[in-house]
Amino acid sequence: MYAHLLLLIPVLWVSFQVLLKLGKAISSPLRDIPGPFWTRFTSLWYFNQVRRGKFEQMNIRLHEKYGPIVRLSPDHYSISDISAIKTVYAAGSKFPKSAWYDGWRPPHQWTVFADRDMKRNADTRRQFASLYAMSSVVNYEPFADRCIDILFERLDEFARHKKSLDLAHWFQCYAFDVIGDITFGHRFGFLDQGKDIENAMNTVHKIVMYSSLVGIYPKWHPWLFGPMSKISRSGAAGRAYLGTFVREKMALLRKERSTNEKPNQTGPESFMAKMMQVSEQDPTKVTEYHLVLMGQLNVAAGSDTTSISLSGMMWYLIQNPEALGKLRDEIDEFTQQGRCSHAITFKETQEMPYLQAVIKEALRMHAATGLPMWREVPAGGAQISGRFFPAGTVVGVNSWVPHYDEKVFPNATTFSPERWLEAESEPERLKEMNQMYMPFGLGSRTCIGKHISILEMSKLIPRLARDYDLTSLQATMNTENHWFVRPASLEVDVSPRRRD
Ligand code: HEM
Repeated sequence: MYAHLLLLIPVLWVSFQVLLKLGKAISSPLRDIPGPFWTRFTSLWYFNQVRRGKFEQMNIRLHEKYGPIVRLSPDHYSISDISAIKTVYAAGSKFPKSAWYDGWRPPHQWTVFADRDMKRNADTRRQFASLYAMSSVVNYEPFADRCIDILFERLDEFARHKKSLDLAHWFQCYAFDVIGDITFGHRFGFLDQGKDIENAMNTVHKIVMYSSLVGIYPKWHPWLFGPMSKISRSGAAGRAYLGTFVREKMALLRKERSTNEKPNQTGPESFMAKMMQVSEQDPTKVTEYHLVLMGQLNVAAGSDTTSISLSGMMWYLIQNPEALGKLRDEIDEFTQQGRCSHAITFKETQEMPYLQAVIKEALRMHAATGLPMWREVPAGGAQISGRFFPAGTVVGVNSWVPHYDEKVFPNATTFSPERWLEAESEPERLKEMNQMYMPFGLGSRTCIGKHISILEMSKLIPRLARDYDLTSLQATMNTENHWFVRPASLEVDVSPRRRD
C-alpha cells in the first residue's frame, strides 16, 4: 500500500510539471510568437540543437521561416532586426547578460565575460581598459612579428618535405603564442613544438562546450560543476586546470621579477608584469583575484576566437582566387610605393583598403561566435521589434543572423570584400551594414580584446597571402558550433611564392 503511494509521488510531480508548463505556455503574453513546436514547453529543443553544433545555420533558417522574432525556448527569443540590436545592445543599454552566462564561470566566482552585474563589469572594464586600448596593443607588434617568423619557418619545413598541414591548428598555435607573449612575456611554445602543450587547446575547447550547454540549464551548474571537475576530460575540470596553468605562468613571471632576471626577449612589458607592478604598489586596487582573472581571460577568450577568424579569412581567400589576386596586387603596389615593409607594419595594414575589406567581409561570413548573445529584459519590460517583452524575458541576437540578412547584405553567401568598398559612396547603406555587423558583439559588452586580435590578424594575413601559395585539400570547411564556430580542420598544401 505504502509502496504504491511512493510510486504515486513521482507520477504526481511529473503531471504537475506538465500542467505547469502547459499553463505557462497558454497564459504567456508572448504565446503568439512563432517557433518550433516544442520550444513552447521546454528548453530541451534548444539544448539539443546547440549540442549538435550547427546552430548558426539553424538560427538563420528559423528567421527565414518565422520572421524577425523566433521562440527558442519558453522564455528565450531570438531577434534579427536592426531596431532590436539598437535597443538591446546599444552603449548604455540596461539589458544585463542572462543566466546563460553563469555557465561560463566557476560557481561563486565572477569573470569579466560572464559578469551579470553591470556596474561591476563597467568598473572592471574601466580599470583595465588602457591595457586593451589600441594605443597599448600596438606596442606588442614585435611579439606578433616574432610569432609570424616562427610560423613561417614551420610552413617552409612543410613545403620542403612536401607535406600537407592543418592550417586551423597552426593558426591556433600562433594565436596561443602571441597571447602568451602579450600576457606573460613568454611564448607558450606551441609554434615551436607544433602540438597541444599541456592539453591547453583541448582544455579551452572543453570549457567552451561545457559552458555553452550547461548555461541553458544554469540551475544545474552549481551541482554539476563540483562532480564534473573530478572527471579529467570534462569542461569543468578544464576550467580548474586553466586556473593552475595561469598561476604557474604567474609564478614564473614573479620569480623573474624578484631575481631581476628579464626573459631573454626584448620588447614591451607584458600585461601581467604591468598589472603586478600596480598590485605591488596597491594590492587593494589590483588584487590577486584580478591577476588570475585577467590572465585566464586572455588565454581562454583570446586564442580560439582569433584562430577561428584567421581560418575563416584564409578559407575565403583560398576559395576566391580573384579576391586573393586583388589583395596581392594591393600589397605589391604598396611595396613599389615604399609603403609596405617586409614585416608589414600594423600602420601600413591600416592604409590598405582592400585588406581591410577582406578582413571585414571574412568576419561577416564567419563570425567566431555563433549563438545568440542572451540578454535579460530589465524591470518594466521593453518594446522590441514592435512587441512588448515583460521583464525577465530573455532575448538575443546571433551575429550570424544579421550577417546573412539578404536585405542588408545581398548575395550574403558570396564572399565579396567589394561590398564594403562600394558602400563607401553610399553613406546610408554603409551605416546600415555597420549597424548589422557584430562579429565582436556591440555596446557596453563589446569584445574587450578586439584590438589584440585585429593586430594579430592584420599582421599575419597580408604576409601569408604575399609569401605563400596555399591549396586547399578540402571541398568544404566543416565546423562545430559550441559558441565558437570552430573549423574541424583546414588541410592545405603550402609552397613559398616566387617573388620577382
Ligand atoms: C577575432 C577575435 C575575437 C572575436 C571574434 C571575439 C568576439 C567576441 C564577442 C562576439 C563578444 C561579445 C559576447 C557577448 O556579448 O556575449 C566578445 C566579448 C569578449 N571578448 Fe572577444 N573576441 C575576440 C577576441 C578576443 C580576445 C583576443 C580577447 C582577450 C584577450 C577577448 C575577450 C573578450 C571578453 C573578456 C569579452 C566579454 C566582455 C564583457 O562582457 O564585458 N576577445 N568577444
